[in-house]
Amino acid sequence: MSKERNPSMPPESSDLSQRAQELRNLLQRASYEYHVLDSPTLEDAVYDQLYRELQTLEEQHPELITADSPTQRVGEKPATQFTSVRHHIPLYSLENAFNQDELKAWEQRWQRAADGDIPDSVQYVCELKIDGSALALTYEDGLLVRGATRGNGIEGEDITQNVRTIRTIPLRLDWAAPPKRLEIRGEAFLPLDVFEQINDERATAGDPLFANPRNAAAGTLRQLDSRVVAKRRLDFFAYTALFPEDNDRSIATDNQWDSLEQLHSIGFRVNPNRRLCESIDDVVAFYEDWSSDRHDLPYLTDGVVVKINSFALQQTLGFTQKFPRWAIALKYPAEESPTLVENISVNVGRTGAVTPLAELRPVQLAGTTVSRATLHNRDFIAELDIRVGDTVIVRKAGEIIPEVVRVLKELRPDGTQPYPFPTECPVCGQPVVQPEDEAVTRCINRSCPAILKGALVHWASRGALDINGLGEKWVDQFLSRDLIQTVADLYTLTEDDLIQVERMGKKSAQNLLDALEISKQQPWSRVLFGLGIRHVGSVNAQLLAEHFTTVEALQSAMPETIETVYGIGPEIAQSVYQWFQVPANQTLIQRLKDAGLQFAGAASVQQAEQQNEAIAGKTFVLTGTLPNLKRDEAKDLIQQAGGKVTGSVSKKTDYVVVGEDAGSKQAKAEQLGIPQLSEVQLLALVEGRS
Ligand code: IVH
Repeated sequence: MSKERNPSMPPESSDLSQRAQELRNLLQRASYEYHVLDSPTLEDAVYDQLYRELQTLEEQHPELITADSPTQRVGEKPATQFTSVRHHIPLYSLENAFNQDELKAWEQRWQRAADGDIPDSVQYVCELKIDGSALALTYEDGLLVRGATRGNGIEGEDITQNVRTIRTIPLRLDWAAPPKRLEIRGEAFLPLDVFEQINDERATAGDPLFANPRNAAAGTLRQLDSRVVAKRRLDFFAYTALFPEDNDRSIATDNQWDSLEQLHSIGFRVNPNRRLCESIDDVVAFYEDWSSDRHDLPYLTDGVVVKINSFALQQTLGFTQKFPRWAIALKYPAEESPTLVENISVNVGRTGAVTPLAELRPVQLAGTTVSRATLHNRDFIAELDIRVGDTVIVRKAGEIIPEVVRVLKELRPDGTQPYPFPTECPVCGQPVVQPEDEAVTRCINRSCPAILKGALVHWASRGALDINGLGEKWVDQFLSRDLIQTVADLYTLTEDDLIQVERMGKKSAQNLLDALEISKQQPWSRVLFGLGIRHVGSVNAQLLAEHFTTVEALQSAMPETIETVYGIGPEIAQSVYQWFQVPANQTLIQRLKDAGLQFAGAASVQQAEQQNEAIAGKTFVLTGTLPNLKRDEAKDLIQQAGGKVTGSVSKKTDYVVVGEDAGSKQAKAEQLGIPQLSEVQLLALVEGRS
C-alpha cells in the first residue's frame, strides 16, 4: 500500500527518488513502444508532461540524475575529439556472394570445413543487409557503457555520446537480471527521408553534400557535437548479441533466430524482414522476394546476410582470417546507368601511382550521385577505348568506387580522339614509367610534391599519427614554401617557421606544435602504419608491431621471418623487407627516432585491456597436428591473447591443446587431470565465445 503524502509537507527524498525511477521506467517503456514497436500507447502530450516532470525533478535534485535517464541522451558539451578503443571482441566482415552459384559454393565450402560434423538438417537465418555503419555497443550490468565505430575491426572510435542519442538504442536493457557484460552488434543508418532532408539543408547552407546515406550516417556518427547528432534521427537495427563472460550459457539462446527475438525483447529494434530457412533454395527465394521489394523500404539495403542458425555449428566452423565460415552476404547486383564522360583527369597518389579518373555528368546510382569513376590505368582506358565525349555505362556496388563498364560506341559523336595517356607526371612534370610487370603507371620522382603530400597527409591521418589540424591545406603550404621534405621535417618545425605561412596565426602554430608533440606518444604500430609501406595497412601494421616489438627487430628480419607472422603473406613480407633496405628510409627512421617517436613497445595499454581473461596469464602446451592452424599460428594466437606457450606438460600447465597423433603429452595431461582443448575449443576461448 502506498502511503498518503501530505501535500503541504516537502516530500521525503526517498519518495523523490522513487518517483524519478518511476518516471524513467514509464518514459523508457513509452519510447520503446514508440520507436521500436512503432505502436505508441502514450499520447505525445502525456509523454512530454512526464518528461518535463522528470527534468524539473532532476534540475532541483541533480543527485537523482542517472546515466540511463531519458534526459541524458544528449550531451551538454561537444567533444573535442574521439579516442580510439580496442574492441572487446573483434568485428569481422562478411564474405560476399553475388549469385546463387556462389551461394551454393559457400554451402559446400562450409560443409567441407565441418568435416562430417554436420547435423541432418541445417537451418539458415536470412536477414536484410542494411547499408549503414556497423556499431559495437557494450552493456555492463544492463547499462550502456560504450558505443564504438567498427574502425578496422580491431580498433574503433569511442562515440558513446553520439550513440546515446539514438532513440532505438536502449540506455538500459529491459532485463531483470542482465549479464555482467553484453556486446551488441548492429547497423546504424539514416532513413532515406532524413538523408534527403540533411542534404537539402546542406545545399541551402552551401555545405558539401553527402554522397549517400551510408556516408551521411558515418559522418553523423563522427560529429563532435552530440546535439547535432540528436537532430539527425539516426536509427539502429541490432543483429548480434555476444556474451563474453557467459560461461554457463544459460542466459544466451543457442541459435541466431531466437537471439534476434531476444534482442527485440530486451529493447532493441530488430529488422522484421527476416526468415528462418530450411534449405539453400529457401534462402534464394528470400533473396529474390526482396530484390525489388527492398526499393520500397525507407532505408537502403545492399543484400541479404545468410547465417547458419545453430550456434553450436557456428562454433564448430569458426572463422577464417577475415570472415566467419558460418555466414555470407548475398549481395544484390550493382546498379548501372548510362552517362556522359565530360573529361578525363589524372590523380597522383602517395605511392606515385598515376590514376586516371572520368569526370561524369552526375547520375543517380544505388541511392547516390555519381560524378566520377575510376579508370584504373592506361591499359583499361585503351582496352575500352574510353574518350572524352563518350556515353558510357557506369556501375556502382556497395563499397566499390563507381567504375566504367563499357562504352556505347553507337552514341559516340564525331571528332573524338583516343585519350592520350600522359607521359609526364601532371604534378612535377617528370617522365612517368610503367614497370613491365605492373599495370600501374608511376611517377618515380621521389621529390614529386604529390608523393610527398600523400605521404604527409597519410602520416597525419586519423589511423596513423592522428595529428590534429594537419590537413591537406597546411601540407600544401609547407611544401610550396619548402618547409618540409619528409615526415621527419615536421618535428623540426618551429613557431617562427610556421607563422610565415599564410593565415597561420600564433595560436594555430602553437596548436600544431602541440599536436606534433602529442603524436610522439602514438604507439609503434601506428608509427609503422604511418610510414606508408605498401601493403601495410592498419591491421597489418598492428600484427607486425605485436610480433616485432622493436623497429630494429623488424628492420633486420628476412622476408621468410616476417612471413611467419600470423596474417602476413609473402607479398607483404617482401614489401616490408624492401622498404627497410632503402637507405633514405633508414635515415628517415633514424631521424624520427631522434625526434622521439615510438619505435618499440610490447602490447599497448589497450591491447592489455583486451587481453582475453580466459587466456591471459595461463600456460598452454600444444601437442599433435591441429586440423587448420599451424603450430606457430596457434602459438601466436595464444600469445596475442596474453597466454604463455611452453614445451612440456607439468602441474603448472593450465591447458593442453590436442591435435591428431598426440603422444605422451596428452597422456601426461590425462594423468595430471589438466583440461584438454581441441582446436575449435581453443579458437572459441581466443575469440571469447566460450
Ligand atoms: S553480421 C560476423 N548482419 O555488413 C558477422 N552484418 O560485410 C558480421 N551488415 O560489417 C556481420 N546488416 O556492418 C551482419 N544483418 C546483418 C547486417 C550486417 C548489415 C553489415 C555490417 C558488416 C557488413 C559485413
